[in-house]
Amino acid sequence: MRFDGKVAIVTGAAQGIGAAYAEGLLREGASVVVADLNAEVGQETADKLAAEHEGRVAFVQVDVASQESTLAMAAACVERFGGIDLLVNNAAIYGAMEFDLLVTVDWDYYEKFMAVNLNGALLCTRAVFGHMQARGGGAIVNQSSTAAWLYSGFYGLAKVGINGLTQQLAHELGGMGIRVNAIAPGPTDTEATRVQAGDAAAQIVKQSLAIKRMGQPEDMVGACLYLLSDEASWVTAQVLAVDGGQVFRS
Ligand code: NAI
Repeated sequence: MRFDGKVAIVTGAAQGIGAAYAEGLLREGASVVVADLNAEVGQETADKLAAEHEGRVAFVQVDVASQESTLAMAAACVERFGGIDLLVNNAAIYGAMEFDLLVTVDWDYYEKFMAVNLNGALLCTRAVFGHMQARGGGAIVNQSSTAAWLYSGFYGLAKVGINGLTQQLAHELGGMGIRVNAIAPGPTDTEATRVQAGDAAAQIVKQSLAIKRMGQPEDMVGACLYLLSDEASWVTAQVLAVDGGQVFRS
């Protein structure tokens, strides 16, 4: 059990990939805060997970775009489980996002989008790093996307920002024993992707993936747990693609 006695917060863990991360951490002994804006589904997911991992799961409602809310999330985690060791910045506006161009997207929508999909990871990190330092260190995984390398519409642009945040925060926090890495999933079969991509997903798989199937949330879990674990104790500032070979970099 790699995370016995460790305390983790996973944002956007009500459903999809975040819920799989929460479950993976629980299987390996961590106590986990399921943090999400969606209180109804988030509470349901936490209750389901608690049935197998009693006493080690709590739901906390959070809006990652709000400083006040992220500070309250960190405080609730410390109150419930005594500290914070691990953070997964997975929350994002994705399934229901609008399609538009940078030059025409409604400005209020753009600002809201960036507040959640980019600044949310920074606000959550700012809320937790002092608590991690108090425990002698910690580890953070940010959820990027292969979109960061494929296009820079506002979704991709926010993920480019996530990659930049990952590198900068790794340097700012490395001296405190806090590592910061990112995972860049390729197209992954979640409800959000089914809404977002519809039939186009099959075409993307056929044309652009080396491994001819969609990713499953469970495919991301091994990479996330590795980056959070002591096995990665000298790995920081990295963006790890888990994408069926969608993106080749040399
Ligand atoms: P999802 O839409 O099912 O999960 C996102 C979660 O974030 C939801 O539970 C939602 O309620 C929550 N959320 C949204 N705004 C929030 C806010 N302001 N504060 C707190 N929580 C908020 O999406 P999915 O597919 O599970 O994706 C999860 C992450 O993985 C996202 O960061 C997404 O960009 C990324 N990703 C997903 C891929 C895919 O194909 N599914 C591919 C590459 C990256």
